[in-house]
Amino acid sequence: MTRHRVAVIAGDGIGPEVVAAALAVLEAAARRFGFALELERLPYSADHYLATRETIPDAAVEHLRDDVDAIFVGALGDPRVPDNVHARDILLGLRFRLDLFVNLRPVTLLHPSLCPLRERPGGRPIDFAIFRENTEGIYVGAGGGLREGTPDEIQVAEELHTRKGVERIIRCAFEWAKANGRTRVTMSDKSNAVPAHRLWGRVFADVGAQYPGIEREHRYVDALAMELVREPERFQVIVTQNLFGDILSDLAAGLVGGLGISPSANLHPGRAGMFEPVHGSAPPLAGKDVANPFAAVLTAAMMVRELRVPAAADALEAAVRAAVAAGVMTPDLGGKSGTAEVTRWLADRIAH
Ligand code: NAD
Ligand code: IPM
Ligand code: MN
Repeated sequence: MTRHRVAVIAGDGIGPEVVAAALAVLEAAARRFGFALELERLPYSADHYLATRETIPDAAVEHLRDDVDAIFVGALGDPRVPDNVHARDILLGLRFRLDLFVNLRPVTLLHPSLCPLRERPGGRPIDFAIFRENTEGIYVGAGGGLREGTPDEIQVAEELHTRKGVERIIRCAFEWAKANGRTRVTMSDKSNAVPAHRLWGRVFADVGAQYPGIEREHRYVDALAMELVREPERFQVIVTQNLFGDILSDLAAGLVGGLGISPSANLHPGRAGMFEPVHGSAPPLAGKDVANPFAAVLTAAMMVRELRVPAAADALEAAVRAAVAAGVMTPDLGGKSGTAEVTRWLADRIAH
C-alpha cells in the first residue's frame, strides 16, 4: 500500500478544527481508495511561539524540505501576536524557503445558490484558477522604517520582480491551461502606474508565444477586480504577482461562497507542496463548532491530486458538492449544521 508522509501544521484559531475535519474525511478516502497517510503533527503556532519564543526552527524547515511528501496547514494568525511574526515566519517563511513559487487558487462555483450575484446570464459555470506568484513582489520584506513613532516616520517597502521569477509562474499558468483544456490566460498588473510591472508584459508575450493555442489577455488589476464581479464566467486562468493574487483570490472566493469553501496549494513542480485553505484563523469563530470545513477538505483534495490519487481527490470534491446540494452546510453558507456534523456527513459519504 502506498504511504504518503504528510506533515501537519494545524496552527491557530479555527486551524486545528478544520484540519481535524479534513483529516477525518481524508482518512475515510484513504481507507476507500487503498492508500495510507503517515501523519506527523508539528506544533508551530501562536501557542508554541508564546510558550517558547520559537516560530519555526531551521531544522524543521530542512526536514519539511527533505523528508515529507506534502505539508498540510490550517491557518496562522492570533491577536496575541499582533505583529504576526510567527505567521510570517511559518507561512511566508515556508513558501519562500521551500521556493514554492506557485500559489494555485482554484475558483469553482459548486452550486448556483452559493453565488451572491443576482444576475448570472445563462447560468454559465464560474470555474477559473488564479496563479499567484508566491516568492517575490512586495512580500520579500525589502525595506524598513526610519524615525518610527515620530511625526517624521518613514516606511519603505520595495517590490521585487525578477525575470526568472516572473517567467516561471507565467509558464506554469500556460502549462496548466494546456493540460486542463483552457484556451485563454489573463495576466494582470498595474504597469500603467508602476513601470516595473512592464517586465510582466514582456515576459507574458515571450512565454505566451510558445503556446499558440492559448489566447493571451491583459487586464490592469483594478479593471480586473471589476470585471470579476461583472462577468466571472469568462475567466479561465489568471496569473499575477503576489499581492494582487492575494487580494483577487479573496474577491474570487466571494463569488463562489466565500473563504469557507476556497482551497489553495503552494507548489514547486517536482517538490513536496504545502496545502492550505485560502482563509485565515478566524479567531472569533474558534472553538464554536461553526468553522466551515469545506475549504480544508477541498484543500486535502488538491493535496491527494498532487500525490497522484486522483480518484480520492474526485471523491472528496464530489462529497463537498453533494453536501452543498443536500444543504448540509455551516452557517457561513446559510446552513444550520456544525463543523462536526458536516465532517461526519462527508466522511460517511466517502465511505459508502
Ligand atoms: P479570515 O480568513 O480568518 O476571516 C475572514 C472572514 O471569513 C471572517 O468573517 C471569518 O469569520 C470568515 N471565515 C474564514 N474562514 C472561515 C471558515 N472556515 N468558516 C466560516 N467562516 C470563515 O481573515 P482575517 O479575519 O482577515 O484574519 C484573521 C487572522 O488570520 C489574521 O491573523 C490573519 O493574518 C490570518 N490569516 C492567515 C491566513 C493563513 O494562515 N493562510 C490567511 C489569511 C489570514
Ligand atoms: C493568504 C494570507 C497570507 C498572505 C497572510 C496571512 C500573510 O492572506 O495566504 O492569503 O498574505 O499570503
Ligand atoms: Mn490572503
